[in-house]
Amino acid sequence: MLNVALPKGRLGERAYDLMARAGYECPELLAGGRKLTFENERAGVRYFWVKPSDVPIYVERGAADVGIAGKDILLEYAPEVYELMDLGIGKCRMCVAGFQDWRDEGDRDLRVATKFPHIAKAHYAEKGRDITIIKLNGSIEIAPLLGLSDVIVDIVETGKTLLENGLAPLETVADISARFIANTASYAFHYDEIRSMCERLGEIL
Ligand code: PRP
Repeated sequence: MLNVALPKGRLGERAYDLMARAGYECPELLAGGRKLTFENERAGVRYFWVKPSDVPIYVERGAADVGIAGKDILLEYAPEVYELMDLGIGKCRMCVAGFQDWRDEGDRDLRVATKFPHIAKAHYAEKGRDITIIKLNGSIEIAPLLGLSDVIVDIVETGKTLLENGLAPLETVADISARFIANTASYAFHYDEIRSMCERLGEIL
């Protein structure tokens, strides 16, 4: 039996859809309710719904053998896991965004509001630009509007949130999509099962 960590929410539902089509269905999982774990003994899988940013924690520590996590989460937390496949779902971009006409004068620390401090720090360290991180937990787009930050580093999917708040993407930091990840020890112990899962996923992608 492989333990599979799925990210709660829309991405998780799409990821489960791929798993089901690959032969790892567990219909009970879509029934709604508050239950968080589901198993299909015949298919050899036990799923559990976790907060998207917690998926790498479960997988890194071996509580889950495999899981599905956004590349944004993997870049931010840099867990020691194997990234086995790009599932091609949940596609979006990590961007620097701000007012369209905003220019960096470079005369003081750049104030960057974000849910992704490590990604933001790494991006500006590469450019040699000093910044101050303002760590927020959501609704990041408000920060430049209220003068809390100069720019934001955040996920842009359709661009609607930026547009409707008078902001624009200024720079792409990374392309994001969902990745199939595995615990390093599980990958050795359950090599055949995990490889076969990858192959079956590969066939339906
Ligand atoms: C994400 C992201 C943006 C929005 C981008 O927010 O932080 O705010 O989606 O999507 P769009 O380009 O399609 O408009 P999320 O829904 O996760 O909410 P939060 O950041 O406020 O937690």
